[in-house]
Amino acid sequence: MKKILVLGDIHANYPALQAIQNYVREYRFDRIINTGDFTVYGTFPNETIQWFRKRKKSVSILGGTDRRVLKILKGKKLKRPKKEEKRVMYYWTSENLRPDNVKYLQSLPRQTDFTIDNVRIGLFHGTFDNEDETLFASSPESRFRELAKGSTFQVHIMGHSHTPYYKIIDGVHFVNPGSVGRMFDGDPRAAFAILKLSSGEIAVEHFRISYPVEEVIKGLKKNRLPEIYAKMYRLGKKLN
Ligand SMILES: [Fe+2]
Repeated sequence: MKKILVLGDIHANYPALQAIQNYVREYRFDRIINTGDFTVYGTFPNETIQWFRKRKKSVSILGGTDRRVLKILKGKKLKRPKKEEKRVMYYWTSENLRPDNVKYLQSLPRQTDFTIDNVRIGLFHGTFDNEDETLFASSPESRFRELAKGSTFQVHIMGHSHTPYYKIIDGVHFVNPGSVGRMFDGDPRAAFAILKLSSGEIAVEHFRISYPVEEVIKGLKKNRLPEIYAKMYRLGKKLN
C-alpha cells in the first residue's frame, strides 16, 4: 500500500504544519503533496518552505499567494488584493523571505503530475485548466464532469477553496485536503488528508486537528501586522 500525505494552503502557518507532523509521526509516507499557497498571512514563510525543501518525497506547486509574492520580488506592482491590510501581508512576506527560499519558490511549477502504484495523479492549485478557479464541494457537478471528461488523471488533487472534500465523478477522484493554515468555515483547526493506494483501490481520509493558534498570533504581534488576522486565526474565518 502507498500512503500520501496531502497538504495545502498552509499560508505560512508553521505551528499548524508542525502539529500535523506530530500527529502523523507514526506514518511512513511515500509522497508528501502540497497544493500551493505556502505563503502569506502567517509570519513563518521560511520555516514552511524549508519544511518541504528538507523532504525529498515532497511534491509542491505554487499557489496564488506565492505567485503574487514572486511578482512583488520581481519589482512588479500588485493589482490584487485591493485592501490595504491584505497588501501589507504580501509586502511583509516579500521583504522577509530568505533568498534561497525565493529561489526554491521560483523553481516550482504551477501544476504537476506523477504516477504512483500505477495511478496517475494530477496536482493543481485551482483546477486543471484554471489555476485561479475556486472549486467547492458544492460547485456544480457539471463542472466536475467537464474536468473529468478532459482528464488523463485518475486523481485530481486541488487546493485554493480551503474546503475539504472528496468526490468521485465519472470515475475520476477529486480531492481537496482543505487548508492547513487558514480556515474559512469557522473551525480554526488545521485540515489535511491522507490518500491510500492499494492495487488500484483509492481511499481518502480527512483530518481536522488542533494546533497552538496563539503561536501564530504572537508572530503577527511581533511584526506589528493587522489585528484582524489574529481574529481570523482564532475564529477560523475569512474576515476581509
Ligand atoms: Fe489559499
